[in-house]
Amino acid sequence: MNILVVDDEPAQRDLLAGYLKKQGHSVKTAGNGDEAIRLNSEDTFDLAILDLKMPGLDGVETMARMKKIDPTTYFIILTGYGTVESAVRAMKLGAYDYLNKPINLDELEIIINRIGEEKGLHQELDLLRSELNEFFPVESFVAESDEMKEILKIVNRVAKSNATVLLLGESGTGKEMIARLIHRLSPRRERRFIPISCAALPETLLESELFGYERGAFTGAEKRHYGKFELAHQGTLFLDEIGDLPLSTQVKLLRVLQDFTFERLGSNRPIKVDVRLLSATNQNLQKKIAQGKFREDLYYRLNVISIEIPPLRERRGDIQPLAEYFLKKFCQRSHKEIKGITPEALKRLVRYDWPGNIRELENVMERAVVLCTGGYITEKEIPLEWHTEQESGSLAQMEKSHIERVLRKTGWNLSESARILGIHRNTLRAKIKEYKIKKKV
Ligand SMILES: Nc1ncnc2c1ncn2[C@@H]1O[C@H](COP(=O)(O)OP(=O)(O)OP(=O)(O)O)[C@@H](O)[C@H]1O
Ligand SMILES: [Mg+2]
Repeated sequence: MNILVVDDEPAQRDLLAGYLKKQGHSVKTAGNGDEAIRLNSEDTFDLAILDLKMPGLDGVETMARMKKIDPTTYFIILTGYGTVESAVRAMKLGAYDYLNKPINLDELEIIINRIGEEKGLHQELDLLRSELNEFFPVESFVAESDEMKEILKIVNRVAKSNATVLLLGESGTGKEMIARLIHRLSPRRERRFIPISCAALPETLLESELFGYERGAFTGAEKRHYGKFELAHQGTLFLDEIGDLPLSTQVKLLRVLQDFTFERLGSNRPIKVDVRLLSATNQNLQKKIAQGKFREDLYYRLNVISIEIPPLRERRGDIQPLAEYFLKKFCQRSHKEIKGITPEALKRLVRYDWPGNIRELENVMERAVVLCTGGYITEKEIPLEWHTEQESGSLAQMEKSHIERVLRKTGWNLSESARILGIHRNTLRAKIKEYKIKKKV
């Protein structure tokens, strides 16, 4: 590492410089703040160790000015006895750590090693970033319907800001895709987009994934682990399925969101990050709040701007372009040449209600491409049974599909479905049995 030692006491300065050189670092020294700033304009330092009390510019002021010249330098402030407050101030202003005099060299070494690790982490991130940009050129985002065009306008506008955005919509409507798009269109596009699903992990694991942990924080923690908040520094953090966040984690998250400062598990050193937050859910958060399962204060933090992505059946104008887009995509992937979709097959696609939204359409098209042997996708390759049933148009069949729709909407909540349908629960039960309605997953 390239290190600058700044101290007005020559003995202290030489002692430190000598020790660091022996450790294999290259070291420069300065006797006061002005000299340090002058050196910094000629050279870049990985780390500067500054005495707090110096005649002229003190350590903290010197740090502030050096940060303006090179924001990537790390700082350690040396404090004398009884100056805890200044140490805290130094940390707040961006020092990495502080050390009390007389300096404990072991402690210094630990801090320097940690900085080395973090520098390594940052270089790793830089590398990853350039790789990501190479592998994923702008992917196609299909939006032909008026509803989606309107949403794209909003996406464009919010992308430029740093605002926290909550994405709402049924499963498979494209929430994650919109989140990625917001990142891609934002000033943070060169940095990372870090997604994390709040539903997939048990509580304790989720917290160590979010905030990271130190080596030895718990049995089995053999190595320091960087949390997603840290990895997303200067980029975007996407909290997916936020409705599934356990209450205790909600409390912790809320605390972190006050000032984006947190500690890794097993450490009490505060880490401050600059992260743009996006979140998504297919659940009704208002309802969860009413049930006491989601904190209202967290909801307001996340919901600065909300974007509701309509289900595919409410923007049927997107069905054909999406189907054609997926057709092309899967043809390329399987080296097949299919010219298009027959009008009958298309009609079937457009009429269907798509409970699984775009993800379902994508799956249907993938299957159709596999099954297709001719030059066009025909009705044969698109067996949407539910729609076929509806087409015969009897009253009973209408009733069956309507009940199915309501059940799906309420997530098979029988009381609520019965209320919406205006029938008794027992009647609903009987009809489910009569029509052999099954829960589809
Ligand atoms: N506008 C679009 N154009 C092209 N493909 C899309 C579009 N929107 C979504 N997709 C595709 O549809 C699939 C589902 O999208 P995505 O994962 O973003 O949905 P989601 O709302 O996050 O779903 P879930 O709630 O199930 O996680 C993905 O494969 C995605 O690539
Ligand atoms: Mg998703």
